[in-house]
Amino acid sequence: MKKKKITVLTGAGVSAESGISTFRDSNGLWENYRVEDVASIEGWYRNPAVVLDFYNQRRRQLKDAQPNAAHRAIASLEQDYDVTVVTQNVDNLHERAGSTKIIHLHGELTKVRPEDRCNERDGFSEAEVFDIGYDDISLGDLAPDGAQLRPHIVWFGEAVPKIEQAIDAVSRADILLIVGTSLQVYPAAGLYRYAGYDTPIYIIDPKDVPVNDRRIVHIREVATKGMEIFKNILKSE
Ligand code: OAD
Repeated sequence: MKKKKITVLTGAGVSAESGISTFRDSNGLWENYRVEDVASIEGWYRNPAVVLDFYNQRRRQLKDAQPNAAHRAIASLEQDYDVTVVTQNVDNLHERAGSTKIIHLHGELTKVRPEDRCNERDGFSEAEVFDIGYDDISLGDLAPDGAQLRPHIVWFGEAVPKIEQAIDAVSRADILLIVGTSLQVYPAAGLYRYAGYDTPIYIIDPKDVPVNDRRIVHIREVATKGMEIFKNILKSE
C-alpha cells in the first residue's frame, strides 16, 4: 500500500531542547544581535568579519549539540509514512536523528560557498557549495576560484531558492505538521496555505500561534512532548 505523505515544517523550537537558542523567544538570538548586522546580505557587504564570527559561534554550538527526542520522533515517522522535512533551521539535527528527506529552506551551517557567483547578484550554483563541517571560516579563507568563502545561509534580502520544492512538499501532503516556528518570516510562514483544502494541519508550539485556519489543531506543548501526542493521534486515526 502506498504510504501517506506527512510534510513536517520545522523552526528553531524543534532544536530548543537540544540547547540551541531560538530567535524570537526571550533571550533569543535577535535580542542579543541585530539581524541586519549578522543575517542580511547588506550586513555581509558592510562587515563580513562580524557575520563570519556569528556563524562560527553557531557552528561551534552545533558541534556540541545532540538531536533530541522530537527530532528522533520526526525521523521515526518514516517507518509508516512518506515524510519530507522542510526546515528553516540551519543546524543538522534532523539529519543526525535519521530523517532522510530534508529541504533546508534557509541553508546549512556546515556548508560554505564562494561569495562571488554564488549570491543574488552573480548567480548561484549548488555545485559550488561544499562541506566545511564544524570549522570556523575567516576572512581570507578562499574557495577554489579564489573568492572569499561565505556561509551557505539564506540571509534577509536574499531569495529562497528552495521555496518551490517546499511548496510542492506542502501541497502534496496528506498531513502537515508544523513544529516550533513563530511563523514570522516569509516565505516560510505562508507555506501552510499551500496545504490541500482537507489536509489536517497540526502545530506543536508552547505559545500562541499567529494563524487562524479551520484545518489547524494546536498542540500547545514543547516539541518532545508534542511529538508524543502527535504520534498517539496518528495511532488512533
Ligand atoms: P523563532 O525564534 O522566531 O520562533 C521559535 C518558535 O519556537 C516560537 O514560536 C516558540 O514559541 C517555539 N518554541 C520555543 N521553545 C520550544 C520548544 N521547546 N518546543 C517547541 N517550540 C518551541 O524561530 P523560527 O520561527 O524558526 O532565519 O524563525 C524563523 C527564521 O527567523 C529563522 O530561520 C531565522 C530567523 O531570522 C534567518 O536567519 C534567515
